[in-house]
Amino acid sequence: MERSFIMVKPDGVQRGLVGDIVNRFEKKGFTLVGAKLTQVSKERAEQHYAEHKDRPFFGELVSFITSSPVFAMVWEGEHVISTARAMMGKTNPIDAAPGTIRGDYAVSVGMNIIHGSDSEESAVREIALWFANDEVTSMDKTIGRWI
Ligand code: PPS
Repeated sequence: MERSFIMVKPDGVQRGLVGDIVNRFEKKGFTLVGAKLTQVSKERAEQHYAEHKDRPFFGELVSFITSSPVFAMVWEGEHVISTARAMMGKTNPIDAAPGTIRGDYAVSVGMNIIHGSDSEESAVREIALWFANDEVTSMDKTIGRWI
């Protein structure tokens, strides 16, 4: 079973989009196994976006993500990493199709509502960066209870 790190960015939290976004993933059939509203430190933001540290927008990205709380989540399900990316839409909301989260709610690449892991390797790294082991749970479907 695959897991992905999904984060509603400060603009999505401030605009009251957390409920809608959680609803979309739940209705799709994924399982929420970790979630928290959290104020991101500069250190965590720089670690999270480390692969972009040489890009011209890096400072702006770190300032934005630390500007007010984000809603960090771990979602579980079959092919959740690629499916969540499809549900989010293209990084630049101008290119994101209607019906996707960014296509429906955003117009700017700097404030594009949501982040989702782009690979299994990123998901493992990001979940470990954002969540302690005891903050992520799992549904054992064979016995039908949370473990
Ligand atoms: S992707 O999806 O990783 O291929 O996208 P990429 O274009 O590489 O962008 C990586 C993240 O940087 C954000 N971004 C920007 N922030 C501020 N200003 C500008 N100009 C800008 N361009 C890209 C983009 O939203 C990606 O953030 P995440 O949180 O990973 O979606």
